[in-house]
Amino acid sequence: MQYKVEVVNSSTFPERLSSLIEIYQNIFAEPPEFQQWSNSDLEQILSSYLKMGKLAVAIAPDHQVVGFCASIPFKGSKLWKSSALFSNNSVSLSADFFQECFQIDVENLDYIADLGVVKAFRHQGVGTQLMKAISALKEQPTLLRVSVCRPEAYALYYKLGFRDMGVKQWAEYRRIDGTIKPSEKILMFRFSAGTDFS
Ligand SMILES: CC(C)(COP(=O)(O)OP(=O)(O)OC[C@H]1O[C@@H](n2cnc3c(N)ncnc32)[C@H](O)[C@@H]1OP(=O)(O)O)[C@@H](O)C(=O)NCCC(=O)NCCS
Repeated sequence: MQYKVEVVNSSTFPERLSSLIEIYQNIFAEPPEFQQWSNSDLEQILSSYLKMGKLAVAIAPDHQVVGFCASIPFKGSKLWKSSALFSNNSVSLSADFFQECFQIDVENLDYIADLGVVKAFRHQGVGTQLMKAISALKEQPTLLRVSVCRPEAYALYYKLGFRDMGVKQWAEYRRIDGTIKPSEKILMFRFSAGTDFS
């Protein structure tokens, strides 16, 4: 299927927003997580990506958005200084933790905040191209968090050079049945050098 990848800016954001919200809601409402996101929460989240970092979308020939990916500085993400489990110990995701345990300087650390591709466009390289478009990944050490119940996302990240750090979290999401339930997450990290996106 044909598509083009575009980095969103403040002029194109308004025209992309409603299509972006719609596919975001549909993608994350799928099994296994059945998440429910309100329009207003998503408008706020997506605008924050634009303000703080980079947001890319994949566009089909009919102008519909069929995928999205966002990166922001780690220190601007909700993970910054949040608690997590590392080697069965409770830790804070602080500058000291990343420095002492992984020799990672958080000042230049990017965080992949979101990635999604509509079903009909999966397994065609859209996710990979979106990651490439937002990230300048070749230059920047990058962190992300993935649900353990999403092996297809884990496989993609692994292929792109991300590795499990052994850091776990549980994130709570509102589900389409109205309940709020936790999902188990792991952190993955990729050093800047040596990843081939060709
Ligand atoms: C994870 C997700 C974004 C991947 O998107 P995608 O567009 O399918 O990703 P890609 O096509 O780049 O890569 C996925 C697979 O397609 C393969 N692929 C890439 N280009 C291809 C091509 N031209 N033809 C056929 N297959 C291709 C890749 O090799 C990879 O296969 P593999 O997993 O068997 O190794 C998508 O499955 C998704 O939206 N899932 C639901 C939301 C989600 O999990 N988001 C991540 C939350 S952390």
